[in-house]
Amino acid sequence: MAAFPDSRLRRLRRTPGLRKAFAETRLAPEDLIAPLFVKEGLTEPVPIASMPGQYQHGLESLVKEARELVELGIAGVLLFGIPAEKDPAGTQAWSPSGISQQAIAAVKDELGDDSLVIADLCLCEYTDHGHCGILAGTSVDNDPTLEAYGRIAVAQAHAGADLVAPSGMMDGQVGAIREALDDAGFPELPILAYAAKYASCFYGPFREAAEGAPRFGDRRAYQQDPANVEEAIREVGLDIDEGADAVMVKPALGYLDVLRAVKQEFAYPTVAYNVSGEYAMLVAAAERGWIDERQATLETLTSIRRAGADLVITYHARKAAEWLR
Ligand code: PBG
Repeated sequence: MAAFPDSRLRRLRRTPGLRKAFAETRLAPEDLIAPLFVKEGLTEPVPIASMPGQYQHGLESLVKEARELVELGIAGVLLFGIPAEKDPAGTQAWSPSGISQQAIAAVKDELGDDSLVIADLCLCEYTDHGHCGILAGTSVDNDPTLEAYGRIAVAQAHAGADLVAPSGMMDGQVGAIREALDDAGFPELPILAYAAKYASCFYGPFREAAEGAPRFGDRRAYQQDPANVEEAIREVGLDIDEGADAVMVKPALGYLDVLRAVKQEFAYPTVAYNVSGEYAMLVAAAERGWIDERQATLETLTSIRRAGADLVITYHARKAAEWLR
């Protein structure tokens, strides 16, 4: 590299045209996925207090929202269902007539094959105790939970999901789901694995939105310790060995190093989840006039892409898509 003054890095920064032409990272609506919540029995959308601009939808407004989002160019939606009745086993998660299956079918019917309907696959929204699996005493019992996940995957496949996205962080979940899908005649349905998912306080607002907070304890016995990155590599490696087609790192902002490490190590389709608390934090500061929401959002999303994300799941999808057009 030439030294100053032959080299002047400011030359390529002089005009908007130069900056745009030489940008290393691009951000477009098609890089974004919007999480959406649907609650059984709602006829009107209900605002989520800790996530301004986000709603619990009924089926009708869910379909409308999904349609508007894909018209803005985003890649697809990630669906979370909230059933009217919860029980210890979370049976509504795999009921063919459960709210999630109804929502998947309705949105898929509306969107067709040009955009994605991704089904979050977990039990915490469906269990009365709020944990992500079947309990044995006060701890989540790994292997019986795998059977339940298999049943959920098959129900979501029958409903028409384009991808299933297991987020429970049980050991062996991707393999169990792959086997269940193959056995049920869905060998071509891809799995987007929440592979490196941390036990993060930044899921707080989501738990209000999805009504899935644990009634006791926390999720640290199954989700990852924020201190660890080598373990994330092992988690992702195992999921890929078990048949994951794409992998996810979650949350995004405190974990950009993990994202980078995962992308570099595996060169796999990699998704980052810019989670509820990250959204809430930014929107709250913007509401106070302390940061500019538009600039902060686009800078954040660009950074997540720069770190290695092919796709970003974000509650800012709608606004970002509008700003990027
Ligand atoms: C369900 C699930 C959670 C999130 C996505 N899927 C909550 C959790 O693990 O407690 C969090 C998403 C967000 O905060 O935006 N297992």
